[in-house]
Amino acid sequence: MSSRVAVVTGSNKGIGLAIVRALCKQFQGDVYLTARDVGRGQAAVESLASEGLKPLFHQLNVSDVNSITTAAAFFKDKYGGVDILVNNAGILFKTGDTTPFAIQAEETLKVNFFAARDVLTHFLPLIKAGGRVVNVSSMIGSQALSQSSPALQQRFRSQDITEDEVVGLMQRFVNEAKKDEHKQGGWPTTAYGVSKMGLTTLSMILARRLSIERPNDGILVNACCPGWVRTDMTSQDAHKSPDEGAITPVYLALLPPGATEPQGKFLSDKEVQPW
Ligand SMILES: NC(=O)c1ccc[n+]([C@@H]2O[C@H](COP(=O)([O-])OP(=O)(O)OC[C@H]3O[C@@H](n4cnc5c(N)ncnc54)[C@H](OP(=O)(O)O)[C@@H]3O)[C@@H](O)[C@H]2O)c1
Repeated sequence: MSSRVAVVTGSNKGIGLAIVRALCKQFQGDVYLTARDVGRGQAAVESLASEGLKPLFHQLNVSDVNSITTAAAFFKDKYGGVDILVNNAGILFKTGDTTPFAIQAEETLKVNFFAARDVLTHFLPLIKAGGRVVNVSSMIGSQALSQSSPALQQRFRSQDITEDEVVGLMQRFVNEAKKDEHKQGGWPTTAYGVSKMGLTTLSMILARRLSIERPNDGILVNACCPGWVRTDMTSQDAHKSPDEGAITPVYLALLPPGATEPQGKFLSDKEVQPW
């Protein structure tokens, strides 16, 4: 129960894998690469082992609450909690995908918002004093916010929005998208953007809540955009390598002991962005 431990979701490839690589080099403790598929996860562990790094592996499908609770119980038993949690797993229907928007909305929100929230629900109580929680969000979430109705913008920016309210709003978006009424509801036509707008807002809500419920524990919760990164999610035209995309999430994961900020912020290129 002595070592420190970092856990990265969806880290068998892309930015998550690069975050694990960087944490293996910079974090004094065990680093867990997690994946929904054991074979893909173990192959990724082996690829890092061939670079001389020693990540550990645990299965974690963020869309499966049993998988989340099993993993949470494992980290509680073995480490007494978690020091660093990086919520990185995510999906995107690419531009030009012909999947009906209603389905894109439901599937995207399911992984990027509701599953990420389930991970937070089960892991936040395990975060040790001095812990760091990083939610990998996106600038597209900020753009979605500015494209939303004034009433929605007011709620998503307010200091008194609650977790229940943001969950209700995300569900409302899905329900309205299914009826093709999301535009009348004030939402932009971007499921990915709305999911990340919800995730960034949830990060802010949880940071505020922790500062009330665990004021002396010094836990920092932030969201960030990794930048436009060359992964399977995007295209090879993107600006950054996965290792470059990992820089801001890793910066937030390794904020030094005693740091009090950033807290409940959204960052890009290590800078706090307006919300
Ligand atoms: N690339 C960019 O330019 C960019 C920009 C802004 C934000 N982001 C965000 O950065 C994060 C990583 O994206 P990426 O570009 O690295 O994409 P990626 O290469 O497609 O990797 C996504 C990862 O998430 C995993 N994942 C998806 N659903 C999961 C589930 N239910 N349970 C567990 N893991 C799951 C995938 O696992 P499988 O291999 O099993 O599918 C994969 O490991 C995402 O949250 C994304 O929204 C990316």
